[in-house]
Amino acid sequence: MKITYLGHASLLIQTKNHRIVVDPFVSANELAKDKVDLDSLQPDYILLTHAHQDHVLDVEVLAKQKNATIVSNYEIAMHYGAKEFNVHPMNHGGSWNFDFGTIQYVNAVHTSAFADGSYGGQPGGFIIVADGKTIYIAGDTALTLDMKLIPMRHKLDLAILPIGDNFTMDYKDAAIASDFVECNRVMGYHFDTFGYIEIDQAEAKKHFQTQQKELVLLAIGASMAV
Ligand code: NI
Ligand code: MN
Repeated sequence: MKITYLGHASLLIQTKNHRIVVDPFVSANELAKDKVDLDSLQPDYILLTHAHQDHVLDVEVLAKQKNATIVSNYEIAMHYGAKEFNVHPMNHGGSWNFDFGTIQYVNAVHTSAFADGSYGGQPGGFIIVADGKTIYIAGDTALTLDMKLIPMRHKLDLAILPIGDNFTMDYKDAAIASDFVECNRVMGYHFDTFGYIEIDQAEAKKHFQTQQKELVLLAIGASMAV
């Protein structure tokens, strides 16, 4: 698996044969819009953790590129299904085998509504198992004890956790979350995009280092292998 950071909570995940975009928010992200070429993303799948604008803004333009399948909770899937997009609805605890691998939709503690206030179901995160690797994408969430359920079923190679504080947990809670999910390799996201979530990146990395953990903070457009 190859993971490219598209800024904020947006990711491009490339498996052997598929391209998966998560929570696309690029065109209105001042930090990302000149560094990420939306035309080049060409996803086969788009995964959405919840309906907030900073996670779904660029869904429709990307879904049209290759007729991508939008995977999210039931309510978000129905929202896009009504607009004639391909969708796959899921809900908490459920797994599905896709042609690239398996996804489980797991709990997150947050809220979920579209920009117009309409209901966006309950927010979640994703466990993705593909190419022999397992990653956890937490979505926007507080630290929650539910994370302790994940390693009872999954051996994670990477946990992607929000670290920006204010709307989600901060990097200190993310370090605790990495204990809960039993994965010391963490990629931080959902930070620095706007004033509420600016962080001291050096302090965050140091906090992880002192606990013998790794916090990866990719530059926008940069990639890592899992
Ligand atoms: Ni949110
Ligand atoms: Mn958010």
